[in-house]
Amino acid sequence: MELKGKVAIVTGAVGAIGRGICKVLAAAGMHVAIADLLPEQCDRFADELNASGASALGVATDVTSRESTGQMARRVLEAFGRIDVLVNNAGIIRVAPLVDFKEEDFDKVIDVNLKGALFCAQAVVPDMMKNMNGRIINMSSVAGKRPGPLQSAYAATKHGLIGFTQVWCQELAPYHITVNAVCPGFIDSPMWSEHLGPAYAPAFGVEPEKLIETVAKIHMPLGRPQTPEEIGEAVAYFCMADSTSGQALVIDGGHAMW
Ligand SMILES: NC(=O)c1ccc[n+]([C@@H]2O[C@H](COP(=O)([O-])OP(=O)(O)OC[C@H]3O[C@@H](n4cnc5c(N)ncnc54)[C@H](O)[C@@H]3O)[C@@H](O)[C@H]2O)c1
Repeated sequence: MELKGKVAIVTGAVGAIGRGICKVLAAAGMHVAIADLLPEQCDRFADELNASGASALGVATDVTSRESTGQMARRVLEAFGRIDVLVNNAGIIRVAPLVDFKEEDFDKVIDVNLKGALFCAQAVVPDMMKNMNGRIINMSSVAGKRPGPLQSAYAATKHGLIGFTQVWCQELAPYHITVNAVCPGFIDSPMWSEHLGPAYAPAFGVEPEKLIETVAKIHMPLGRPQTPEEIGEAVAYFCMADSTSGQALVIDGGHAMW
């Protein structure tokens, strides 16, 4: 698919990886809908992209609400007339040992990471079916392939997103809609500073803020964390590719060889 002039919705768009994805898609000439929780942050990032000559629209969205995801799709259709790409990137993590995992934390992670992706897909797929064209890209993780300890809820959702990818790939193929997943490795973000750092750093004998660099040096042949733009490039590939569907592409510096 030629990207110039096409319309993409990116959820979790003002987060670390979301920004990288939006920048790459906007630079390729796509109209980009910035879908995240807070209206001011969405509008500010859209303004930033538009100031550099891109075409972006802030669309405050809570992916856990069917009403909100329906509004998101309607606003994007009003503004741009079509929806070609959905990037289900919004995601959260909670870490705890199995026996201590709180039900409310488990439910929250399932709601955002899995139910959110389902609601967003349900909101946009009717328009893609009508156009007989579309791309859905689900943001999984290396945790969807080889998770670490303490990640019961997160790993379940990231495996689940690969499950969605394989199911939807088959259901939507007759409408020329491809469905793929990206599995990022380690990208510096609040997930690391607020959750993974405090949980895992003591085992590595480093301060929490040093964890990502430390584990990248030890566990990644390329020896460094990935950048948000590198994840954006994988998303752009799936947007372009006409014959690739049902795949989960790992971008992790060689951390795990599948
Ligand atoms: N950072 C990593 O190392 C890493 C690795 C693998 C996969 N991922 C995945 O990449 C995606 C983006 O993560 P990130 O690292 O940029 O994290 P981040 O915390 O920087 O961004 C996540 C974004 O999702 C948004 N969000 C949360 N709940 C939402 C909701 N209900 N509705 C709409 N938006 C919501 C947040 O506001 C935030 O902007 C996530 O799905 C994450 O699981 C991240």
